[in-house]
Amino acid sequence: MTTLMHAALGLLPPGSEAVVHASPAGLPYFDPGVDPDDAPAAVQAWRAPVAAADAVLIASPEYAHGMPGVLKNALEWLVGSGELAGKPVALLTASPYPTGGDRARAWLTETLTVMSAALVPEASLGVGMVRSRLGPDGALTDPATAEALRGAWAAVERAVQATADR
Ligand SMILES: Cc1cc2nc3c(=O)[nH]c(=O)nc-3n(C[C@H](O)[C@H](O)[C@H](O)COP(=O)(O)O)c2cc1C
Repeated sequence: MTTLMHAALGLLPPGSEAVVHASPAGLPYFDPGVDPDDAPAAVQAWRAPVAAADAVLIASPEYAHGMPGVLKNALEWLVGSGELAGKPVALLTASPYPTGGDRARAWLTETLTVMSAALVPEASLGVGMVRSRLGPDGALTDPATAEALRGAWAAVERAVQATADR
C-alpha cells in the first residue's frame, strides 16, 4: 500500500506538494473526554497538517473487510475538531486480491460522510491485484492504474478550486 501511495504521489500535477503522515499508529486511543484545546502532542501533530492541507488523500489497505483500526482511531480524533469538514478527500485502497479493498473504501466513505468531508467521487479508487501492478523498484507498471490516478488527481484539483471559489 505504501509503495502504491508513493507511486500515486509521483503522479501529482506539477506545483502540488504532498505531506505524508505515515503513522497514525502512534496516536493514543480516542477519548471523547479530552478537551479539543488540550489534546496530547501526538494528536495535535496529526490534526495540524490535515487542517493546513488543501486536500487529503487517505491511502489504506483492507483488514478483516474494513479499514484498519488505527485509521478509524485516527479519524475519530478529527470528528469533534472538524479538520476534515468541507475538505476535499480522495480515497485509495489496495489489495492483493481482485476486490481492491472495496469494503474498506465503503466503510471509509460512510465514516467520512458523517464527518462532512467533501469526498471526491472520481478520486475514490481501489486497486486490486496490487502486487502485479508495481515493479520491483516500486514504479507503477500498469498504464490503466496510472491513468486512473491521473484522473483522480485532476478531479481533486477541480474540487480544491471549487472550494477556494466558495
Ligand atoms: C490480518 C489480515 C487481514 C486482512 N484482511 C484483508 C481483507 O479483509 N481484505 C483484503 O482485501 N485484504 C486483506 N488482507 C491483505 C491486506 O490487504 C494486505 O496484506 C495489505 O494490502 C498490505 O499489503 P502490503 O504489505 O503490500 O502493504 C489482510 C491481511 C492481514 C494480515
